[in-house]
Amino acid sequence: MQTENSCIVIFGASGDLTHRKLIPALYNLFKIGRLGENFSVLGVARSELNDETFRTKMREALIKNEDTTPETLDEFCHHLYYQAVNTADADDYGKLVPRLDELHDKYQTCGNTLYYMSTPPSLYGVIPECLAAHGLNTEEYGWKRIIVEKPFGYDEKTAQVLDVQIHRFFEEHQIYRIDHYLGKETVQNLLVLRFSNGWFEPLWNRNFIDYVEITGAESIGVEERGGYYDGSGAMRDMFQNHLLQVLAMVAMEPPAIINADSMRDEVAKVMHCLRPLTQEDVEHNLVLGQYSAGEVNGNIVKGYLEEKGVPADSHTETYMALRCEIENWRWAGVPFYVRTGKRLPARVTEIVIHFKTTPHPVFSQNAPENKLIIRIQPDEGISMRFGLKKPGAGFEAKEVSMDFRYADLAGAQVLTAYERLLLDAMKGDATLFARTDAVHAAWKFVQPILDYKANGGRIHEYEAGTWGPVAADKLIARQGKVWRKPSGLMKKKV
Ligand code: NDP
Ligand code: BG6
Repeated sequence: MQTENSCIVIFGASGDLTHRKLIPALYNLFKIGRLGENFSVLGVARSELNDETFRTKMREALIKNEDTTPETLDEFCHHLYYQAVNTADADDYGKLVPRLDELHDKYQTCGNTLYYMSTPPSLYGVIPECLAAHGLNTEEYGWKRIIVEKPFGYDEKTAQVLDVQIHRFFEEHQIYRIDHYLGKETVQNLLVLRFSNGWFEPLWNRNFIDYVEITGAESIGVEERGGYYDGSGAMRDMFQNHLLQVLAMVAMEPPAIINADSMRDEVAKVMHCLRPLTQEDVEHNLVLGQYSAGEVNGNIVKGYLEEKGVPADSHTETYMALRCEIENWRWAGVPFYVRTGKRLPARVTEIVIHFKTTPHPVFSQNAPENKLIIRIQPDEGISMRFGLKKPGAGFEAKEVSMDFRYADLAGAQVLTAYERLLLDAMKGDATLFARTDAVHAAWKFVQPILDYKANGGRIHEYEAGTWGPVAADKLIARQGKVWRKPSGLMKKKV
């Protein structure tokens, strides 16, 4: 699929996401020739900027964080424009009509428009309506697509309301719900690893897999986003979207073909098969935590309650661990342990597939189990762990590994998640965007956790720089297991 010439309209253009992720992604796509010349970016927000001041702001952000050259930077910035709009006032959106006409004319973009909502979520239902008030949603002259940033709703009900609001003015094929984890190369690679290797697929089920561990650990705290984060917490911020999508990639059936419908059908099926959590399950299988002051990578850091924008009596979780199950033939009885947290000792997202041990220990009682470690980030790669004979007398088995690092794929030009997803939206490929049924199923699954939180469910304290509350260790210990403490992907020489 080819990228078509288009105008990208970013709502929330004066905000953090725009200068930290969206503009750099567009810049890098431009730099590698994936955008061509016929595109424009129209930034929209309430701040009184103009084309020049917006360009200056974006240029500064690019120079600070990206590998730039003055010529490419100049060329790219000429494609940037800005229009101040009072985002809550439908009449004011009228200003966009002549601006868009002018840009479509200048860049021959034939009315093709990609709207990107990067504003506070309270506007996600408002912007489509205000665009429609000026006919800016109709596809008579060029396609119109709209990217919705996370969070898509705050719970099951609000997600449904939001869907209704957006669907009044945009059809499902025009809506792109972004989950940047789906744009990560290593997440997509899970499908290739599973479905194009005869080795793995036959073993990928309850007969051979003992349990699955999924970790989304971050060493950063809430940074400047304390206000937002406190209303969200680890459950809404990372689990309901990113980690459930990763879990779906690990657990889904092979799609009949690789296209948006087929892929997303399989993802939705997994979400629907998650075993519903009862309140008893939640109490027994969920651990929530909040970090207190501590030391991370040699730096003394504040506790969550001392962070900017966080109320001193906040009951928001910065860590969660859950044992859940998928009720289908492939996965019946296999526990999935999923955890995420801020201020943990390292930034690492990884999946560990723990295989069942041999039926009878021939050589030693504690022969190593077979594990497949899939490192999503950083140090992206795959490590197979298995037992071999320790050299010398006797038959003692020792864990060894066979490792692959993405970095070793010389010459591979890997797009970042936002680069990939922006490009896909410009091509009209929704495969890596969340579909409405899966989003609702995910909210439905987590609703009992939200209820537990709302009813003052227990939050365990953990010291910043540790791997989370002791209660989470006890959760997995019930099955006689311990969480993997991810360090480097590659094993040290034995
Ligand atoms: P910011 O608060 O930094 O930016 C919000 C933007 O919205 C500003 O440009 C603001 O500009 C504009 N805006 C328009 N109308 C309003 C209004 N009524 N009230 C407040 N602001 C308004 O947010 P982020 O850029 O961090 O995030 C944007 C969205 O993306 C959020 O929904 C967030 O959840 C999501 N997101 C952000 C990530 C990040 O890393 N930052 C990561 C993943 C998702 P102005 O005041 O000029 O109108
Ligand atoms: C965002 C969350 O969606 O994902 C952040 O809002 C989190 O809190 C971030 O830090 C993690 O993304 P990544 O790509 O750095 O793993």
